[in-house]
Amino acid sequence: MKIPFSPPLINEQVKKEVNESLDSGWITTGPKVKLLEEQIKSYTEAPKVLCVNSWTSGAILMLKWFGLQEGDEVILPAYTYAATALAVIHAGGKPVMVDVCEDFNMDPTALEKAITAKTKAVIPVDIAGMPCDYDTIYQVIESKKSFFQADNPIQGRLGRILVLSDAAHSIGASYKGKMTGVLADVTVFSLHAVKNVTTAEGGAICINMPKPFDNEELYNQLRCYALNGQTKDAFTKTKAGAWKYDIIYPGLKINMPDVLAAIGIGQMAIYHQEVLPIRRALFKRYNNYFSKQQWAINPQLETEYKQSSCHLYALRIKGIDSSTRDKIIEDISTKGIAVNVHFQPLPLLSLFKQMGYQISDYPNAYAQFENEISLPIYPQLSNEAVDYINQSITEVVLAHIPTYA
Ligand SMILES: Cc1ncc(COP(=O)(O)O)c(C=O)c1O
Repeated sequence: MKIPFSPPLINEQVKKEVNESLDSGWITTGPKVKLLEEQIKSYTEAPKVLCVNSWTSGAILMLKWFGLQEGDEVILPAYTYAATALAVIHAGGKPVMVDVCEDFNMDPTALEKAITAKTKAVIPVDIAGMPCDYDTIYQVIESKKSFFQADNPIQGRLGRILVLSDAAHSIGASYKGKMTGVLADVTVFSLHAVKNVTTAEGGAICINMPKPFDNEELYNQLRCYALNGQTKDAFTKTKAGAWKYDIIYPGLKINMPDVLAAIGIGQMAIYHQEVLPIRRALFKRYNNYFSKQQWAINPQLETEYKQSSCHLYALRIKGIDSSTRDKIIEDISTKGIAVNVHFQPLPLLSLFKQMGYQISDYPNAYAQFENEISLPIYPQLSNEAVDYINQSITEVVLAHIPTYA
């Protein structure tokens, strides 16, 4: 059996939407992007949604909008994909990394300790699709409100640290009855090719700023900023007689094209009713199996008040180090199964090492990483394939750790 790690779901509806865009004579930002924004807005109940060309560019846009300056600190977990920290660097700030808990998510106690007078934003990451504990994060921020120093009118209006949720993995997840998208001031989804909902490359920013911010007005401003700071988008500008425009911000060029939004529209149409239940069922099937294996540490599907979007199945193997884990992965791949590791904590990567981050400061992140293997999970995966993966992994693990045999 050949089992890929995470192929995109391209069904007839996706093809129809893409063809419609290709045939329409308009392939960049226009009506399809608007429709995708509306779909994500009604799904999450976010006040406004702006689609852009990646999670990374969406996060940069929001941090720039908040007025990040050199020396400003943004707190994020050490256990995440590099883009979380790179977005902060590109926006001109300094990433401050904190350790994580058993569920892979940011440790609120570490967050509290890391807040200083320079902290402008925090980026909790919903790793694998499990939402962070947003109530606790907001309580910590509230308790440190007196530390906050506003450097511009936007920061003054908020009067506290901005919460920008890295929900790259968690579209469709929920926390205390609310969907991701409305759990933080700003939530950014990734619509990259391997994500639960994809546009090949893309991102969606859910704008949920508290009063007195006007989310509608903010959407219009950000939309303009995402397209060179130009007052008219290309679609409007090409209409007869509507050529004149102005440039009012030093904007970015990060708009999503219609032809890619079309892929997302086809995917959103079936995501909640069809795709998410299959992801949950596969996750449960893995959990049923691994809960009976004494060497396995199962990931959580849900808690009393959180439900995962089941983006990753992050299995951990008790008591192994990273070199045994790597050998196990090599042997699993000879059985035709593609697996992955999510993630290498950032201080293990050359760039961040050179910047002075040290893995010894993040013992939990390292402990989560050294024995983690992400297994395939996607709607095209059959129960038979899951059973084959389970048996193959068990064989390989027992060959490497005979004490469990
Ligand atoms: C946790 C996390 N944050 C951010 C990103 C960046 O997303 P994008 O590729 O859409 O910029 C990813 C992508 O894999 C991710 O896993």
